[in-house]
Amino acid sequence: MKTVVSGIRPTGQLHLGNYFGALKNFVKMQNDANCYFFIADYHSLTTHPDPQNLHDNVKNALAEYLAAGLDPQTTTIYIQSDLPQTAELSLLLSMHAYVGELERTASFKEKIRKHPDNINAGLLCYPVLMASDILIHRADFVPVGKDQEQHLEMTRKFARRFNTIYGVEYFPESMPYNFGQDLTKVPGLDGSGKMGKSEGNGIYLADPDEVIRKKVMRAVTDQGPTEPNQPMAEPIANIFAIMKIVSHPETYDFYLAKYNNCEIRYGDMKKQLAEDIIAVVAPIRERIADIKANDVYLREVVEAGAAKARASADETMRNVREIMGIKPF
Ligand code: TRP
Repeated sequence: MKTVVSGIRPTGQLHLGNYFGALKNFVKMQNDANCYFFIADYHSLTTHPDPQNLHDNVKNALAEYLAAGLDPQTTTIYIQSDLPQTAELSLLLSMHAYVGELERTASFKEKIRKHPDNINAGLLCYPVLMASDILIHRADFVPVGKDQEQHLEMTRKFARRFNTIYGVEYFPESMPYNFGQDLTKVPGLDGSGKMGKSEGNGIYLADPDEVIRKKVMRAVTDQGPTEPNQPMAEPIANIFAIMKIVSHPETYDFYLAKYNNCEIRYGDMKKQLAEDIIAVVAPIRERIADIKANDVYLREVVEAGAAKARASADETMRNVREIMGIKPF
């Protein structure tokens, strides 16, 4: 069975785009591969979050992923900092990471441009820490978006370099896992291409019903079609696309026929769409709240997750230490 590692940034909340996109695939993947999902709290520290905020965000991310379907019985879910072996591996790998190549990393260059007042060494070594997250479990695959591809390339470079320097075939070359066709794209309701946090157009899994209704009713529309089977403008196509994802096929077909006959009333369609989104979101939102209120359960989950992750990490660290010459007497 293949090993998959996926790091989750504990920032912000999950929206429908995350849920129907990567998360659905994570939920499927947890049955087909040996998966390690972790909340990347060490990485968050590069931006110096308020300690209480950091803790709240970690808890929130954990609750949302659990509520959305990651199953701690089936897979391994842990908090990055509960596995300090990662930090040790990062220290060891940093001995073979060159400052020049770290400085040339696109994400680092962007950070120093945007935050010239906080160019810390953690930021510079971010790719080494990320490589350690991946190599600590000797992952075959890492599901990543475009913005993380360079980090994964560096992970492979560090792995190859380690193997070459010590004359071993120890670390695999972890490959990006692209969900391709399986990745459902959820568009925005503001007429723009995609639903996203930075786009500010998200419907969040934690949104109350009323907020969802308001957001949907505000969706951008047009004057309506003037001739049968008129091609749809992007904002209208987006509303239909979301309806296709969340509503019953008959509902979708009903409104599509209305559109094609020039009888569409966008207000009615939006009302229906809002209720169909609520039918998806409300149960998840309730699970998020229940999980967040249950510290005993959360503690059980993270302790069991850390124990499973530790088994794999301890083995890697035993080997890496031995390979590098850190040996017991
Ligand atoms: N850097 C990733 C992001 O910003 C999060 C991350 C940290 C990660 N370690 C990882 C992702 C290891 C995959 C594997 O989204």
